[in-house]
Amino acid sequence: MQQATTTTVQQWEALHSSPRSPEVELEGRVALITGGASGIGEITARVFAHHGAKVVIADVNDSLGKSVRDSLGQDTVSYVHCDVTNESQIKAAVAEAVSAYGKLDIMFNNAGITDPNKVRIVDNDKADFERVLAVNVTGVFLGVKHAAQAMIPARRGCIINTASISSNIGGSASHAYTCAKHAVLGLTRNAAVELGQFGIRVNCLSPFGCATPLATKFVGLGPVEMEALIGATANLKGVTLKAEDVANAALFLASDEARYVSGHNLFIDGGVTVVNPSFHMFQYPPEEA
Ligand SMILES: NC(=O)c1ccc[n+]([C@@H]2O[C@H](COP(=O)([O-])OP(=O)(O)OC[C@H]3O[C@@H](n4cnc5c(N)ncnc54)[C@H](O)[C@@H]3O)[C@@H](O)[C@H]2O)c1
Repeated sequence: MQQATTTTVQQWEALHSSPRSPEVELEGRVALITGGASGIGEITARVFAHHGAKVVIADVNDSLGKSVRDSLGQDTVSYVHCDVTNESQIKAAVAEAVSAYGKLDIMFNNAGITDPNKVRIVDNDKADFERVLAVNVTGVFLGVKHAAQAMIPARRGCIINTASISSNIGGSASHAYTCAKHAVLGLTRNAAVELGQFGIRVNCLSPFGCATPLATKFVGLGPVEMEALIGATANLKGVTLKAEDVANAALFLASDEARYVSGHNLFIDGGVTVVNPSFHMFQYPPEEA
């Protein structure tokens, strides 16, 4: 037992013998980010680039995508027009990453949409339902598929899919969106099982609400009002979830710090999905709260 502990300490010291700075965590890595023109994807592109990665942004919003690229510099970031529901465009986006930077280390399948926020299922349109599934599920499936094609020969890689708290609970989004995010979790787990044999890790992120264009449009509020609404329903008080918090979780999963993490659904939700607030446990008297 003593021997094992000593060995572990020696291994730890060997791993940490060189000085590290936060800037080098993704040095030399190549990341493709779908939906990287706005919101969580945009901030993740900025965080990944800041930590040394080369980034390819794949999006349908060309003007926003190009402006993110230009603000970060064309040496570090490329933009490619890509509708994630179109297999040839996803394939071309992966090919662009490989031709521009030589490989693909990190695939962040993040592009997503919502349908209109309707109270009754009887008012939901089949076309809206299918549109959400096409982007949020088929798009992720195609991203995983073509990333795997590039990563399997390298025997390494990291795939991250953006799910949501709606991957775990009902009643926080539309029927289509909730179905889609449950499916993203299922696909993440299946892909982690299949691709583990090639050293490829597959995980998903499940954020609570943050005031991006997607979310503010869905709830029909401005960013400040939406953050107030989220704050009122949040379990963790005194902090407001920002896109950067989700990007930092993606950074962790993409980095070697998470080298043994696969098949995981990482909640960035301040614990909101582990509580049933109607139980009112731990209700402090108002003067102590
Ligand atoms: N904002 C939240 O509260 C929240 C919470 C949980 C999960 N999410 C998920 O986070 C992801 C990012 O959303 P966001 O909140 O940053 O929204 P956003 O609207 O700011 O960004 C979404 C991006 O996806 C792009 N996109 C849409 N359809 C596309 C397509 N077919 N092909 C390629 N790109 C496409 C958009 O142009 C946009 O740039 C989504 O998967 C969303 O479901 C968001």
